[in-house]
Amino acid sequence: MATGVTLEIRDLRLYGATELRPLLGVECEIWRQRLNWEYKSSARLLLEYLDARSLPGFVALEQGEILGYVFCVYEAHKAVIGNVFAPPRVIGDWSVADTPPRHEVERLLLEQAVTLLTHSPGVDRVETQLLLHPAGEFGATLAEHGFQRSERLYLERILRRTPMHTSQTNCAAATPVRAQAIVGGCNLRLWRDGDMHGAAQLIVAAYPEHPDSRINDQYRSLPGAQRFLHNIVRFPGCGSFVPEASFLAVDAVSGALAGMVLSSQISSGCGHITQICVAPEYRRRGLADWLLEESIASLEARGMERLTLTVTASNADAIRLYQRKGFTELHRFDAAVWERPRL
Ligand SMILES: CC(C)(COP(=O)(O)OP(=O)(O)OC[C@H]1O[C@@H](n2cnc3c(N)ncnc32)[C@H](O)[C@@H]1OP(=O)(O)O)[C@@H](O)C(=O)NCCC(=O)NCCS
Repeated sequence: MATGVTLEIRDLRLYGATELRPLLGVECEIWRQRLNWEYKSSARLLLEYLDARSLPGFVALEQGEILGYVFCVYEAHKAVIGNVFAPPRVIGDWSVADTPPRHEVERLLLEQAVTLLTHSPGVDRVETQLLLHPAGEFGATLAEHGFQRSERLYLERILRRTPMHTSQTNCAAATPVRAQAIVGGCNLRLWRDGDMHGAAQLIVAAYPEHPDSRINDQYRSLPGAQRFLHNIVRFPGCGSFVPEASFLAVDAVSGALAGMVLSSQISSGCGHITQICVAPEYRRRGLADWLLEESIASLEARGMERLTLTVTASNADAIRLYQRKGFTELHRFDAAVWERPRL
């Protein structure tokens, strides 16, 4: 390294919550500033895994000081690089010289994780979405290790704040009146707990040959889609699920599930669309537009001032929809996938 500083890379499982907490504190602040995202519940979960010494990954150290970390999650044959992060260096109120450069620490950590995973016989696929980092930041490292990179956009729409009635905290009271109508032969209804299986089937039907199912192979199978939905609905990785702003479009005659929108809350004033899809045979009838409108109305009624979502840059249909609905680009980041070459 040009800085002449020797970094030590060690296994993340040697460290507990106490050692990583300060670094995660800075990371939470950066998530909030850059993406309006309250990362605290995710950080809490990570700290629990750290204390259980069960989070695979690496830390970078300089003279015993932890400068950054990367973590991974294994899912059968696949590994996901969850995050790579090294905070800007600050002592007291002063930013000190960025030595070694933060980017170089992160690059080294990513390189370490990628090398480990791509050389692990049980791992056939590695995925990552580097949400905190600008697109291309680690392009060279990822390309060198055979990753395919796709740009993704982080979009935002400012919402119109409507005062929340006390009774609207109740789920049924918040059901928008427009949900009584019929659009494209479908009714809308709120998400219910028992919808997980039908929603997973809808995802598999909506994403074949889609850029997002190349980025995330959970979209390609029923068990995968169920895991994906389970993460959205039960875990804080994509914010806390808001069932009152999550709707299904159901065929008014057959009762078949035609489309859905799922929403979460990522900070006190910010909602997030975690999923929107419409089955191919129900597209171009205005269903996605309607689902999004209802979700927005419900989030506005809950005092949300902003709404964000992520979309793959090559997903032209979805981008047209979001532009029409007033979303604008806040940030561009990379998703990357490695697949073990078949012999
Ligand atoms: C993106 C997606 C959700 C859009 O769903 P949709 O229900 O077809 O969307 P809408 O019907 O509201 O709008 C789609 C188009 O139909 C048009 N349309 C709406 N109502 C119509 C009608 N009654 N007759 C004809 N066209 C109509 C819209 O103007 C829009 O046109 P455009 O694409 O040329 O701008 C859908 O294509 C999908 O599920 N894709 C796969 C999953 C996905 O990519 N999800 C987003 C991940 S970020």
